[in-house]
Amino acid sequence: MCGIVGIVGKREVAPLLVDALKRLEYRGYDSAGVATIHNGKLERRRAEGKLINLDTRLGEHPLAGHIGIGHTRWATHGAPTEANAHPHFSQGVAVVHNGIIENFTPLRAELIANGAVFHSQTDTEVVAQLLTAYRSQGLSPREAMQKTLGRLEGAYALAILFEDQPDMIMGARSGPPLAIGHGDGEMFLGSDAIALAPFTDEITYLDDGDWAVITRDSAEIYDHDGALVERSSQISQGGVYVVDKGNHRHFMEKEIYEQPEVVSHTLSHYIDFAEGRVKLDSSQIDFANLDRLAMSACGTAYYAGLIGKYWFERFARLPVEIDVASEFRYREIPLSGKMAALFISQSGETADTLASLRYCRDNGLTIGAVVNVRESTIARESNAVFPTLAGPEIGVASTKAFTCQLSVLAALAMIAGRARGTLSSEDEAAMVQALVELPRLSNEVFHAVQPQIEMLSRELSRFKDVLYLGRGTSFPLALEGALKLKEISYIHAEGYAAGELKHGPIALIDENMPVIVIAPHDRHFEKTVSNMQEVAARGGQIILITDEKGAAATTLETMATIVLPVVDEIVAPILYALPVQLIAYHTAVFMGTDVDQPRNLAKSVTVE
Ligand code: AGP
Repeated sequence: MCGIVGIVGKREVAPLLVDALKRLEYRGYDSAGVATIHNGKLERRRAEGKLINLDTRLGEHPLAGHIGIGHTRWATHGAPTEANAHPHFSQGVAVVHNGIIENFTPLRAELIANGAVFHSQTDTEVVAQLLTAYRSQGLSPREAMQKTLGRLEGAYALAILFEDQPDMIMGARSGPPLAIGHGDGEMFLGSDAIALAPFTDEITYLDDGDWAVITRDSAEIYDHDGALVERSSQISQGGVYVVDKGNHRHFMEKEIYEQPEVVSHTLSHYIDFAEGRVKLDSSQIDFANLDRLAMSACGTAYYAGLIGKYWFERFARLPVEIDVASEFRYREIPLSGKMAALFISQSGETADTLASLRYCRDNGLTIGAVVNVRESTIARESNAVFPTLAGPEIGVASTKAFTCQLSVLAALAMIAGRARGTLSSEDEAAMVQALVELPRLSNEVFHAVQPQIEMLSRELSRFKDVLYLGRGTSFPLALEGALKLKEISYIHAEGYAAGELKHGPIALIDENMPVIVIAPHDRHFEKTVSNMQEVAARGGQIILITDEKGAAATTLETMATIVLPVVDEIVAPILYALPVQLIAYHTAVFMGTDVDQPRNLAKSVTVE
């Protein structure tokens, strides 16, 4: 999604704005721009494409000024052109915006009818034009801001400059996050703590509906009704993690290889390895007295939830109702008082997931959140937060967050099982032991399969379509594998329950449709072998991901057999995620796509 930054201080801000925007690149964007006020004059520079183009533009035409705003745009309304890039100007006003103004068409018509001249196709420009219209009626900046916000419907995070106010930036938040950064004689606005990390770690997040007025030594926050309010500030973690690629070619590669470490961090937050049991009790969610657990998420986080469903139902005998967040609240699932809801989100800002959370909260459910950003909106609106300790995930394709989400869900399923008396302490200890071995096994997998997968991916990059199959918890992993491949290599891929093959997808099978089968040697293995035989009989090429037992148990000829260590069933999805991720990564590298920022995608989708 778009990134926003604002600085009012004592230094030349244009280069600082661009540096901050570079730390927001991971959000995905297709144009960028900055604006400053200098000698009482608003000026801007904008460029299509990556920030290097904006840097070049600024090198050719420098921008002076100690106050400014900047923006990376992920196009929603209007093509990713320079004319549609932010900041958007109107007479005496500059605006940058993240989100969607849903009623921009009638507002635009009204403004044009009153003589406004628009210069872009964007929804954002109506904000600038409204502010100008109200200022021309003699309203002060604060009055014009309040009137304008009262006219807007939809989701927005805004940063605004008024040409006649060279010491003030205004911000507003309704949906996408916006934070104030407190400096020494400088004040900042940013979409998240990572953007502000080079300047400060003292952060104040605006609540939904808040708007703010910042100067170099003050920050006033007003609520939706215009009342001055206090919001607590916090020391952010945004700067703690080194946000760079190290010696990796891409953030995604770095994050794949960080998994043994961050899964270990995450597990140690929930598991007492010495005691062989999960540390947390069920005080945050009263699992013992639940009839059902609702779960909702998007994309990769949803697939983690699907695996978690297996675990809650098997080890805690707790029925789970799960759906993608964009469908969840429209199904009007009957919600009862003896239900809780668990939301899974790496960013903690996904609009669909947040909307489903609010739907459940408004229906009186206890809300739990498995999130990677503790300061996120989803975390702040939940009763219980279960953090993944993956560190900032910069690659748009989610990898380490996924395996950390699975680690947390495994721990929660054990807590629920213990609370509901369905998991013996011996079984819990066995599962804990299996989880404890994960980081070591993950490193073994990397060393064992990396060269083979790199070769395989060269083959795979020749195909136009790929099918992923799995049974049990390998089925959601098949869905995740297909998502990984398609979102970064742009090869079409589908995940299917292996048992479903004969109910339709088998019609696709021929030598041009490689089939990746995820099949540890578990209770589903024999049936999955039958599915592989069905594929082979039709000339399909099989890539089998299994363990030593599985490899020994089948004589089928495959395009490749990727052999992992034999592991307990509960940790299989976490371990088998690694080759699945590596296949997608190396295939994309051969395809030459933008692995960390794939086309059309954003890291955090803060619009519905
Ligand atoms: C996963 O690789 C994708 N980038 C995407 O599906 C992502 O998982 C989804 O948008 C959910 O994001 P969240 O975890 O931040 O809520």
